[in-house]
Amino acid sequence: MNDSDHPRRLHGRKRGRKLRAGLAELVDTLLPRLTLRLPQPPQRLDVAEAFGGRAFKDLWVEIGFGAGEHLAWQARTHAEVALIGCEPFVNGIATLLRDIDAEDLGNIRIYPDDGRDLLDTLPDAAVGRVFLLFSDPWPKRRHWQRRVISPATLATLARVMRPGAELRIASDDPRLLDWTLWHLRAHPAFAWTARNAADFLERPADWPPTRYEQKQIRGRPAYLTFVRQAG
Ligand SMILES: C[S@@+](CC[C@H](N)C(=O)[O-])C[C@H]1O[C@@H](n2cnc3c(N)ncnc32)[C@H](O)[C@@H]1O
Repeated sequence: MNDSDHPRRLHGRKRGRKLRAGLAELVDTLLPRLTLRLPQPPQRLDVAEAFGGRAFKDLWVEIGFGAGEHLAWQARTHAEVALIGCEPFVNGIATLLRDIDAEDLGNIRIYPDDGRDLLDTLPDAAVGRVFLLFSDPWPKRRHWQRRVISPATLATLARVMRPGAELRIASDDPRLLDWTLWHLRAHPAFAWTARNAADFLERPADWPPTRYEQKQIRGRPAYLTFVRQAG
């Protein structure tokens, strides 16, 4: 069965404990200003308009940003890059909003829902980097339809990523790593950059640890980088 035969459903928590007043206020006031409203495919998102007409050198996307510490790090380290983060978990979004507000990070937009819906609306070859960091917490085989990594998502990523663009994936579960490597290596648009074990067992310098990685990690994480091939 093809994964595109399944209706797309987002699983997992949308809300956790009650937000403190300051964070709740950011969700009410700042989030609406940063939230992307997606067009109906096949219409494409106007990326320049989404970032207020400001010109950026590149567009990067993180799906499943959790509490957003990695996204905020990339945004402050690469002020010349526009970043879109996708995450449905409101408490995580609120934590990211706190960083955006405190540091006045003007290069982040948020899609507070399923990142696959965002990908469907991005223009062809618009994206230079995609991050999927522990974003598939579905190791059980019977939950495979919930995973972001799938033939359908890879086809869309191949469309929206330009040649030379990087797809960075982290996972701490051997079953998900097998799944990820099997799908990516079977796809002609992506090449794995690793030449030896150190290339995927050691964290690259510009790849800061995520909250999940610091608190809930189950096994030794692997850091996989794939490059979108030309053609
Ligand atoms: C295990 S947590 C990891 C969060 C964060 N990346 C980290 O490493 O701390 C997985 C996150 O991915 C999000 N997620 C899973 N599937 C998603 C999807 N299709 N679109 C957007 N977010 C997704 C979940 O809501 C959850 O917050």
